[in-house]
Amino acid sequence: MAKKIAFILGSPRKKSNTNVLAREAMRVLAEARIAAVEIDAPRLDFKHPGCVACYKCQQSTAYGCHIKDGLGQAVSSLVDYDAIVLATPLYWLSYPAQLKMFIDRMFSLLKFGEKHEFFSPLMGKPLALLATAASGLEDNLDLLDTLWRTPTKKIEAPYLSCLFPFCQYPPGEVAKDADAMSKAAAFGQQLASLLT
Ligand SMILES: Cc1cc2nc3c(=O)[nH]c(=O)nc-3n(C[C@H](O)[C@H](O)[C@H](O)COP(=O)(O)O)c2cc1C
Repeated sequence: MAKKIAFILGSPRKKSNTNVLAREAMRVLAEARIAAVEIDAPRLDFKHPGCVACYKCQQSTAYGCHIKDGLGQAVSSLVDYDAIVLATPLYWLSYPAQLKMFIDRMFSLLKFGEKHEFFSPLMGKPLALLATAASGLEDNLDLLDTLWRTPTKKIEAPYLSCLFPFCQYPPGEVAKDADAMSKAAAFGQQLASLLT
């Protein structure tokens, strides 16, 4: 069956530079016949902003968020993909708040054993990060890399990241930076190789 990859977009900005780079990676994936689907996290509707710790997901044998809103549905849909890419700008050394709401709801895709072992339908599925920031890597973009890489150890999955420090362009204009665009294309190629 054809492979499917979810790109969770985190930028609240219209004409996001991160999205331009993510779409370049998606273009390369499409050439490799891998379907990339965008989940535009900041524009999903929600009844509650983020996780309200109802723990219904932990009381049920099923995986997925029990809050029936756009955010919950999009989080629950992640089980249908072969890999998940977070494509986001760095905000205050971390995720934009709108993306954090989505990630907190991803708690519903985990269950915990008596010996603190993890169970998840995401087990073994690659996670990846494409991230941009106005400043450098150290004590900045590297923190986000660690934040997203760490859960891959729990779900025993491969991890890839493609980081764009000093990404200072007016909205959408990273498209004019040939080096940045080829780096994004190479990332798409790496993802494709991981899935084929
Ligand atoms: C609220 C806010 C917080 C930010 N925090 C950081 C930061 O901690 N470090 C950094 O290097 N850049 C920071 N930036 C800059 C963005 O990460 C950078 O401009 C990014 O490339 C924007 O991507 P976008 O066009 O996809 O939204 C911040 C920007 C905003 C608006």
